[in-house]
Amino acid sequence: MASLDDPITLPSGLRLPHRVVKSAMTENLADADNQPTGAHERLYRRWADGAAGGLLVTGNLMVDRRYLERSRNIVADAHLDIDRLRRIRTAAGASPLVAQLNHPGRQTNRFVAARPAAPSAEAGAVPMLGLFGRPRELGASEIEGIIAGFGASARRCEQAGFEGVQVHAAHGYLLAQFLSPHVNRRTDRWGGALENRARALLEAVRAARAATGAGFTVGVKLNSSDFRHGGFTEDDAERVVALLVEEGVDFIEISGGTYENPALFGEVEELAAGRGETVSHKEAYFAGFARRARQAAGSVPLMLTGGIRTRAAMESLLADGGVDLIGLGRPVALDPDLTARLVAGGDGVALPRYALPTVAGVAGESEWYEAQIARMGHGREPDARMRAVTAASRFVAGEALRGLAGRRRRARLVARAEVAVTTD
Ligand SMILES: Cc1cc2nc3c(=O)[nH]c(=O)nc-3n(C[C@H](O)[C@H](O)[C@H](O)COP(=O)(O)O)c2cc1C
Repeated sequence: MASLDDPITLPSGLRLPHRVVKSAMTENLADADNQPTGAHERLYRRWADGAAGGLLVTGNLMVDRRYLERSRNIVADAHLDIDRLRRIRTAAGASPLVAQLNHPGRQTNRFVAARPAAPSAEAGAVPMLGLFGRPRELGASEIEGIIAGFGASARRCEQAGFEGVQVHAAHGYLLAQFLSPHVNRRTDRWGGALENRARALLEAVRAARAATGAGFTVGVKLNSSDFRHGGFTEDDAERVVALLVEEGVDFIEISGGTYENPALFGEVEELAAGRGETVSHKEAYFAGFARRARQAAGSVPLMLTGGIRTRAAMESLLADGGVDLIGLGRPVALDPDLTARLVAGGDGVALPRYALPTVAGVAGESEWYEAQIARMGHGREPDARMRAVTAASRFVAGEALRGLAGRRRRARLVARAEVAVTTD
């Protein structure tokens, strides 16, 4: 029967002063070498100013610089400038900072990587206006390398003073691709039965844990479902929650969907209707699954993110919805002081409707919010009147130019690292 301003201590021992968390939102503000910048520092100082000491989860940091979610993600590989990452930690002040770690798998746009790598090649490219290349299948040793990358990246975040990491296994990125039988058609130990499909995620969590000290928080963001026939279902997700509990994770954040079916933004094809219609969910898109997951989660804190807007919904999720933490994305991209106001007894926030046809739902709206995040990174406040077309064109121009320009640069660094490894 918690309320918004009740503190909570995670199994790692990390104490949070209240129940509102800023969930991960990609910043796309790294420099041309994918290093942290002053813009990240300004952004996290701004978010911390309005968070009343609450947990901030960063946008996704990549574990492999060949495959990015956005051209200007921070890459937490061996080239990471840990001192620069530490400055973001310092900027966040009293707010605990958890870095989200990710590998995009086949969801890396073709400007960034012409040939993505995925659990299997059979499911093909993400079908969105030709923006994604046809993936190749990952070899078994490459999978082991990626898992080790999650561990090494977690270690670097710990060295930078971060309180924890969150392993990203939602929204259709690599670890979610392994979980989904639609995308993962492997017949080796990484595919087939759920225990095999969950192996990459569980081993990534284990690697992060093994590489960091006691008291370091390791959480996971998990889909409730990928909302497609033959994909990852709520039954699967419930079993994965139980496996994550056995693994000793410190919190599990529930979300849902992929680029193709962006339930994370409240838009899903109504599978039950079977007519391919898109319906918009109202508030707290995945509240039904959170209730189901509660039992499997035992005493591990559950965080729910997606469409939560009103104080009434937040209070009822905490009181009897089986949820321990409320995740907010878009609301704090537009209103960075919202968390502090909520904790002080204020109400939630209504968001403007995005007013441009979106590219399969995700790109477009998400760009508008990303542009608000960039404003904060550059010392300005968000602008609710920003035109949708401004944000969309910023995305196309930015990703195309920076993605292509960065490819050769990143390949050179990867080659240099490989030489360093083989001559050790
Ligand atoms: C601009 C933007 C970037 C995002 N980047 C990430 C990300 O890096 N990792 C992640 O797990 N979710 C990401 N998300 C999804 C959010 O964490 C959240 O799940 C989603 O926005 C739904 O929550 P909301 O209704 O409170 O916005 C992003 C969302 C937006 C709007």
